[in-house]
Amino acid sequence: MQSHGHPVHQQTAAYNLARERLELVEARIAELQCSDIPLIQDVATYLLGNGGKRLRPALVALCAKACGYTGNADIDLGVIVEFIHTASLVHDDIVDDAATRRGSVPANRVWGNQLAVLFGDFLYARSLALSVSLGKLRLVEVLTEATSRLVEGEMLDVLHNGNADLDLDAYMDVIDRKTASLFAGCAQAAGVLADVSSEQEAALASFGHDIGIAFQLIDDLLDYAADPEKLGKQVGADLREGKMTYPLIHLLDAGTEAQRRTALKCLGDPEQTAAHLDEVIDAMRAAGSFAATQEAAMRYAEQARTALSVLPPSEARDALSELPDFIVTRGH
Ligand code: IPE
Ligand code: IPE
Ligand code: MG
Ligand code: MG
Ligand code: MG
Repeated sequence: MQSHGHPVHQQTAAYNLARERLELVEARIAELQCSDIPLIQDVATYLLGNGGKRLRPALVALCAKACGYTGNADIDLGVIVEFIHTASLVHDDIVDDAATRRGSVPANRVWGNQLAVLFGDFLYARSLALSVSLGKLRLVEVLTEATSRLVEGEMLDVLHNGNADLDLDAYMDVIDRKTASLFAGCAQAAGVLADVSSEQEAALASFGHDIGIAFQLIDDLLDYAADPEKLGKQVGADLREGKMTYPLIHLLDAGTEAQRRTALKCLGDPEQTAAHLDEVIDAMRAAGSFAATQEAAMRYAEQARTALSVLPPSEARDALSELPDFIVTRGH
């Protein structure tokens, strides 16, 4: 089976510089996923051993380094954010009724929704305990705020399901909460660890936020336009689930009446056929919806880079400045 993004396979300056820290994060994850309940151990091994880009721990490691941090708590912070992220994915796959995750069957399809919900709770609790153990109240504050906003975003996402009238502002609010909040929290928390000034902390949060928005825009683009083998998730899942994302909002706004009708017919249709999906994808291509999504992501990527000027020049800052590009050009 092909890899779905394990850090070892990412050949960018950002991952290269973070590699040593990411390897320590992996080792710590293996250590911390232990429980005396064998089932928890099984689920943890399945989930955490199954790839993932480890983008959030990489962000933590690079931000901490760019802030001159020389301690070791960035490792645990990396584990914390990966646990929060993994918990959110486990719950997300339940609410989205996903068929594939990281090229495999989602946890809830292996163990059932009941155990998967509880496993997500377990991971959230583990991440909270670990953040308390770092001994900085401000860290706990930043991380729990990010997590609450993530869950709010996921709830709004469910509430907006199938609402063809959803506008761009409402969509941006959802992705701000469900995705950008954790990216912002990663970068900001790394700054807190390094005791940076409040100006630098705000700049880091803003960098994380902007790459987070770019990241979700591309995720929503890839949901239509990716090679499913590479993506490790199904293509067309958002449309089938009734998700109003940027490419679809754009098509409904800019497409012809016939294209609008095709898209609306498919929105939230559990019986979606490959032919119907292809029609919508063709319409999106013709209406420039993919290009518009990509351009929106690139605007946020560019804005993200400008926030970095508040940090002193360093190799880590240079690597961070490449992350936005990695995010907007990725294929999975
Ligand atoms: C997927 O995140 C969830 C979103 C916020 C879109 P990633 O694409 O970072 O997931 P993994 O960890 O690499 O699988
Ligand atoms: C989920 O967004 C973002 C989270 C906070 C979990 P999606 O529902 O688009 O994520 P994927 O595509 O399933 O990874
Ligand atoms: Mg999903
Ligand atoms: Mg979702
Ligand atoms: Mg998605």
